[in-house]
Amino acid sequence: MARLTDSKIEAASPSSVAKAADLLRAGKLVAFPTETVYGLGADATDDGAVAKIFAAKGRPRFNPLIVHVASADEAASLVTFDGRAEALAERFWPGPLTLVLPRLTQCPVSLLCSAGLASLALRVPAHPVARELLAAVRRPIAAPSANRSGEISPTRAQHVARALRDGVSLIVDGGPCPIGLESTVLDLCGADARLLRPGGLAQEQIEAVIGAVRPLDQGRFGSGRALRSPGLLERHYAPSRPLRLNATGLRSGEALLAFGPAPPQGACECLNLSESADLTEAAANLFAFLHRLDQSEASAIAVMPIPEHGLGIAINDRLRRAAAPEPPTRAC
Ligand code: TXA
Ligand code: MG
Repeated sequence: MARLTDSKIEAASPSSVAKAADLLRAGKLVAFPTETVYGLGADATDDGAVAKIFAAKGRPRFNPLIVHVASADEAASLVTFDGRAEALAERFWPGPLTLVLPRLTQCPVSLLCSAGLASLALRVPAHPVARELLAAVRRPIAAPSANRSGEISPTRAQHVARALRDGVSLIVDGGPCPIGLESTVLDLCGADARLLRPGGLAQEQIEAVIGAVRPLDQGRFGSGRALRSPGLLERHYAPSRPLRLNATGLRSGEALLAFGPAPPQGACECLNLSESADLTEAAANLFAFLHRLDQSEASAIAVMPIPEHGLGIAINDRLRRAAAPEPPTRAC
């Protein structure tokens, strides 16, 4: 990793947070920790700053951004905040839940964040550093995950430094992200609540508050879903080595991403997401372990089966998309 890039990492402290806030207010990009993954932040009300996010990530312009706010009241000043949103915010904010809601006409957030849609995705993060930053900036912060588009999401400051190099002015290091998977994205624009992305908050917990949620269309990443939430592209979160899912044995030259107490032996490198088969622990380790195995000598990464319930649904969603074939080259 280049020294120049490392020098952009500063440990979270009152002075690094104040510096980050000044940079954001000056239209620069700053990476910061949230409880889910590191975000690549910009002042959401500044078109020029938001445009820099798309450039730094190599992100297609049709893929909208999540905007982080300090409170549900602030969210309600930007979008139509209905009873379902109020109930969910009351129960789960701050936390790993993103709500997609209709923009108010006077909403000052850059239209680039909505990528041409009439809606805006909002969340109140729980990480203390993210909250201090929002309090210091006193503006909404647009922040996608701080990785290059399509690649593995960052759960450590070093992951951000490796991926984004010159694209970012400062990386505030708050240590490993405790949840390790992105927020759950829920679309509340229509009469039916729709799950757009499984994530750090399980669907059952949402349903306990607002009743049935239309589930994610499992197994197929069809164009319909991709249009409703353009970030749900088939291939995403991808390491540079091939991923082989639901592996119960090993092939020659493979590294192993294991789960549970009895992994197959003989991998050239093995990292166990959770020896005790705990899905919360597995979620927190997932992206960091993919980053590490992607830097090994292995020809491919074999991944053991992960149960399809609770956080396992979001883990399997990420793994399936990480394993999806490369799309044909397309202009973006
Ligand atoms: O945990 C997280 O959500 C992290 C942290 C940094 O907060 N952020 C994150 O952002 O994962 P990003 O940009 O990597 O993913 C945002 C997802 C994408 O799938 C995007 O398409 C979807 O949210 N999204 C954003 N705005 C939307 C909108 N208006 N309608 C539908 N989907 C939207
Ligand atoms: Mg992302």
